[in-house]
Amino acid sequence: MAAPSPAAGGSAAENPLTLLTLDELRQRTSVKWRMHSSDVLPLWVAEMDVPLAPPVADALRRAIDLGDTGYAYGRAYAEALGDFAARRWGWHSFRVDHATVVPDVMMGIVEVLRLVTDPGDAVVVCSPVYPPFYAFVSHAGRQVIEAPLGPDLRMDPAALDEAFRRARACGRRPAFLLCNPHNPTGVVHRRDELEAVAELARRHGLRVISDEIHAPLVLPGTHFTPYLTVVGAENGFALTSASKAWNLAGLKAALAVAGPQAAADLDRMPEEVGHGPSHLGVIAHTAAFRADGQWLDLLLDGLDGNRTLLETLLAKHLPSVAYHRPEGTYLAWLDCTALGIPTEQPDGEPGVASEIAGPAQMFLDRARVALSSGHVFGTGGAGFVRLNFATSPAILTEAVTRMGRAVDELHPSTS
Ligand SMILES: Cc1ncc(COP(=O)(O)O)c(C=O)c1O
Repeated sequence: MAAPSPAAGGSAAENPLTLLTLDELRQRTSVKWRMHSSDVLPLWVAEMDVPLAPPVADALRRAIDLGDTGYAYGRAYAEALGDFAARRWGWHSFRVDHATVVPDVMMGIVEVLRLVTDPGDAVVVCSPVYPPFYAFVSHAGRQVIEAPLGPDLRMDPAALDEAFRRARACGRRPAFLLCNPHNPTGVVHRRDELEAVAELARRHGLRVISDEIHAPLVLPGTHFTPYLTVVGAENGFALTSASKAWNLAGLKAALAVAGPQAAADLDRMPEEVGHGPSHLGVIAHTAAFRADGQWLDLLLDGLDGNRTLLETLLAKHLPSVAYHRPEGTYLAWLDCTALGIPTEQPDGEPGVASEIAGPAQMFLDRARVALSSGHVFGTGGAGFVRLNFATSPAILTEAVTRMGRAVDELHPSTS
């Protein structure tokens, strides 16, 4: 496995994905490392096997040394995101006064839904999609309508048109919850696709809420387009944070950003929502966006290497599993339908992210590799698994080798 190394930091030029050993990672107490027993390689939930980026660790250390652990205040987080967004994505129209701090991206989505939809209204999602899109929307008393992705895993304008029409018919103030980059497929929506979304949403009277939490993780060869930079998107919202790209899910703080025609709606956000984010979270996310630069680029190079390594490993050990090379995120959406594993789904709605069935259950039982089960991502997910490749090449190699062995044992005659 990965060479022994200090448990934090690493030298400036190293791939952050190679700095921690499996023994070090197993000392972590987060859900990735504690949900399953210690013989399981966990490649499921969206946490990364990296030490904290040095600028983030320094900012947190400084806060702790100062006892700076009170309540969050000010606009530094929004300013840091604004500068990052201008540098990285050319989002020069970003308005700090149109951004507000929310506890995390999912709670921010719920709070924006409360501003622009009513109980019982419809929220359209492109399935298969991040399971909490179902759970949080339903829990907020809104109903989910699916617009399934096309066979190329990109948004399907005809399915969107139909879903938007149905959403309009069943409620007064419907919304579209966009995921860009898309989890679990890693597709990064192009500007022309986003313009088509904005035009359709205007035509049918839906408000668009764009979840852009994976945006800093767009991989070499692809460019990220923020939804709010698109013509027609002026009444939309974006939600983001440094949580995915700097592995800060445990340090709660995110930003809701309004387009110019949505700023008045965002102003109606109840003050108490701003009490949810943690001050240490705000410090960490601000430091991450401020630092930009070398650490993130080394991470993206490492993830780029892993997405190619995964392609090679799958071709060698699991040739019947289909892999669409992701353009962003560290998630690989693997089509395991050709393995012929029964995919009956447990009762209930999609959305329970930790529920396992079908191929994911087989890989957990026989390979001792934990993956996310496709069926919880909604229509189109059964028979797939989502693999998180934000780990060391050594762990990735071991996991896919074990998965291949499990399939060979399952179908000995074909191996
Ligand atoms: C698309 C997407 N949105 C939101 C989240 C969760 O973000 P938060 O913890 O800030 O609610 C995730 C986590 O993986 C995600 O993939």
